[in-house]
Amino acid sequence: MTDTDLDQQSPLGDLDPQDWAAYSRAVNRVLDAAIEKFQSVSDGRVWTPVPDALQATLQSPLPTDSLDLKALTQQILDLMPYGVGNTHPRFFGWVHGAGTPGNLLAEIAASAMNANCGGRDHVGIHVERQVIDWCRTLFDFPKTASGLVVSGTSMATIIATKTARDVALDFASRKHGVREARLVGYTSDQAHACLARAFDMVGLGTDALRKIACDPEGRMDPEALRRQIAKDRASGGHPFFLAGTAGTVNTGAIDDLAALAEIARDEALWFHVDGAFGACAITSPDIAPKLDGISQADSLAFDFHKWMHVNYDAGCVLIRDGQAHRKAFANRPDYLAAGGTALAGGEPWPVDYGPELSRGFRALKVWAHLKEHGTETIGRAIARNCAQAAHLGRLVDAHPAFERLAPVGLNICCFRYTAPGLSEQELEALNSQLIEQIQLSGIAAPSSTRIDGRFAIRVNITNHRTKFEDVEILLEALERLRADLV
Ligand SMILES: Cc1ncc(COP(=O)(O)O)c(C=O)c1O
Repeated sequence: MTDTDLDQQSPLGDLDPQDWAAYSRAVNRVLDAAIEKFQSVSDGRVWTPVPDALQATLQSPLPTDSLDLKALTQQILDLMPYGVGNTHPRFFGWVHGAGTPGNLLAEIAASAMNANCGGRDHVGIHVERQVIDWCRTLFDFPKTASGLVVSGTSMATIIATKTARDVALDFASRKHGVREARLVGYTSDQAHACLARAFDMVGLGTDALRKIACDPEGRMDPEALRRQIAKDRASGGHPFFLAGTAGTVNTGAIDDLAALAEIARDEALWFHVDGAFGACAITSPDIAPKLDGISQADSLAFDFHKWMHVNYDAGCVLIRDGQAHRKAFANRPDYLAAGGTALAGGEPWPVDYGPELSRGFRALKVWAHLKEHGTETIGRAIARNCAQAAHLGRLVDAHPAFERLAPVGLNICCFRYTAPGLSEQELEALNSQLIEQIQLSGIAAPSSTRIDGRFAIRVNITNHRTKFEDVEILLEALERLRADLV
């Protein structure tokens, strides 16, 4: 076969449509289904288990031949009803954002551009810089602060922890690792597991992260923190890092960030804030005062995909000292040399600020989302969610069969069904069954946790579609299911 013959095998790219009209019909069919899904998002079930027959089709052999576009479109549409359910107003599990139809616009454009946002001079880099600049403004960070749009708070935390580690060891750790340095960090016993994972991943080990006790509201006890720091110093440790939480995953508690910032200053610690969802409450003038001190952080990790409702996935890391941030990650081999006024320009490149070289154009959906809605609308939805959680707390308190297990300080209400004569073990079994049954019923989807060792039904409200009546529907359904179970 000649070179020309080889080219003739595929007049267009091998992987491009051979029939663009058919391709357009397929895309429009999926687009219509996507819009219809968003339009009817409050109807129907919250979560539906993946049917056995569909699961079976997802265990087929590796395709070696191509599939007709019409058939493929149908197969994609067949998957759409079986997501997590977090777009539905009665999805109350874990901490999930609800997304918006507006994200479709940006995601279509980003997909068509297929831009690699690790570096180089193109519009993706400029859009991401704009987003980071808006975040600096939102959290009152200085102009010299740096940041990245990342997959989520877990990744943001790894980047912040690595920067803090390298600053503490004068960047020698980039070459030599931590060697015999006994770096010690602090967070509360209510902190998210991503902090311990970050300590593990940057070579400090999870034992080096001390878990400080909390007050009854779930906030880190500053005096206990000071005592632990003194103890670690006395035994030859090198305290270097303090992580406060703006919105704990169990109860939504916000540490006294201003007090923690002061301790960090006194003790020369890097002050990090995990604000995965809670930091976004800064957009609500009523709730923002609870975050007082957040702008003093050396680093902040938070998500756009949670309480800001950008579609998954999108988080952010902000680092006050942009130079230190760059010094902790920059590593340009010859083939990534930057410079000039052409494509290799665009300094600095995002790859200088994090572990990923190839990165998608996540920033576009964040940029478009903030432009479409603005922070005021987002803040209003957040404040409404907090009022709904408080409403649920009051309903629980007024009900003789339910017991609230933690204060409702933000957007989370933890409670359980209780009855005289049942042991803790029996209560746990019953409440665990209640959660399973209500999820299977499709009416609502709370999740579970433990509060002071007691098993709890955990209702988290981070959803701009939730109405007050949705929390009432939840309690009524729990009551009905409880009667069936008992
Ligand atoms: C307080 C807190 N920190 C960190 C995370 C992890 O965030 P992500 O899932 O975006 O990595 C979560 C997730 O729910 C969280 O609630």
